[in-house]
Amino acid sequence: MNLTNKNLCEREKKVLSSIQKLPYCPIAIKSGQGSLLYDYDGNEYIDFLSSASSANIGHGNEEIIKAVKNQMEKIIQYTIAYFTTESPILLAEKIIDLSPGDNDKKVLYSTTGSESIDAAIKLSKAYTGRNKIISFKGAYHGSTYGSLSISAISLNMRKKIGSILPDVYHFNYPICFKCPYGKSESECELQCLEEIKNAFKVYLPSDEVAAIFFEPIAGDSGIIVPPKKYVENLYKLCKENNILFVVDEIQQSLGRCGYWFSIDYFNVEPDLIVMGKSLGGGFPLGLVIGKSDIMECLKAPAHAFTLSGNTTVCVAALKMIEILERDNIIEQAKEKGAYLISKLNLLKDKYPNIIKDIRGLGLSIGVDLPDRSSTKKICYQCIKNGLLLISLGENTLRIQPPLVITQDQIDKALKILENSIKDFINEKISDDAYTFINGW
Ligand SMILES: Cc1ncc(COP(=O)(O)O)c(C=O)c1O
Repeated sequence: MNLTNKNLCEREKKVLSSIQKLPYCPIAIKSGQGSLLYDYDGNEYIDFLSSASSANIGHGNEEIIKAVKNQMEKIIQYTIAYFTTESPILLAEKIIDLSPGDNDKKVLYSTTGSESIDAAIKLSKAYTGRNKIISFKGAYHGSTYGSLSISAISLNMRKKIGSILPDVYHFNYPICFKCPYGKSESECELQCLEEIKNAFKVYLPSDEVAAIFFEPIAGDSGIIVPPKKYVENLYKLCKENNILFVVDEIQQSLGRCGYWFSIDYFNVEPDLIVMGKSLGGGFPLGLVIGKSDIMECLKAPAHAFTLSGNTTVCVAALKMIEILERDNIIEQAKEKGAYLISKLNLLKDKYPNIIKDIRGLGLSIGVDLPDRSSTKKICYQCIKNGLLLISLGENTLRIQPPLVITQDQIDKALKILENSIKDFINEKISDDAYTFINGW
């Protein structure tokens, strides 16, 4: 049978549960190379999504394929639960070296970001002997019971599933461009932090709070870069109250923001760092890294999975990190991000009624459009014209291309975006956009 996008998407609908999909256009990806993707109808796309930030070094990397094949010929996997293989050790040593702060640390593997968040919740509670967790409105931390309990982004994640983790308190993330307190930057007195301090005074005993789970750059709530003074003061608040400062780096680490870890931008040293997505070089892998005493505060098998720290996946991860380091990809991501933002700002000057806000760090960029309807239409038109991207929330375009994207590809992508904006202004975009583009 001749496979097409339509045919595959229809078959998928019949056999895959819809609850794990946030569909956009009916496109089936057949292959990829670098920052380019190809579908079953023969169309080419520039990838502005990187498989949800899980393909930082792009697609079809020959060195990873070779390293994986090499490992698979020796042994594909042997569970670290009972015996030892080399690659999980090498990877842990490398991550410890790269992480902020001293090297008195340990690593704990999972297979996904969500499971790693669960590990960090368990460790925080056990280490502190406290039960309460603070996290932030709008955050997505994952889909397991633990990680969804500290998320606050979609009611569908919570409906009909019974009890979730109790004692989770959600506060405002510092979204300065639409400050919930109506303050400008010069008027800012960190009211969002004051809310937490006030809570500590009147209803939330700080000595019962185990951890604050924080995304140094908020991802699914719209790519938001908080002010440095907020992050430094939040960290200080944690230290003053013996609360663990846990950072969710699942989406933003490994060069995405122009740093190994997005927290590096802020100069604070978290107690626990949670990683996933791009970590496995395209394969499933998550981990928690933290100070040794925290990482040893539970007894086995408190968080053991048969396939976590998978031998072959750790080889892929090591190769991916080697490539990031050797080819100076992270520094380049910073420059490419600055270039992309400067070009987007020119578009904003040209189309001030369409582009409302641009923000980001490195190659993690959010672009706000006027509303849900314009966002669906522009997104749809971009995809139709060869730029694969999705939106976040009501009206933010999510721009997270592979870090290996070339300047020529960035320029082409911006042209497609500009043409889609023009088509929107001239009412040339089909209402099919409302059917196909779903998102969160
Ligand atoms: C910030 C953040 N945390 C956690 C997760 C969950 O990771 P996973 O999908 O690997 O379980 C995601 C995934 O989108 C994420 O973006």
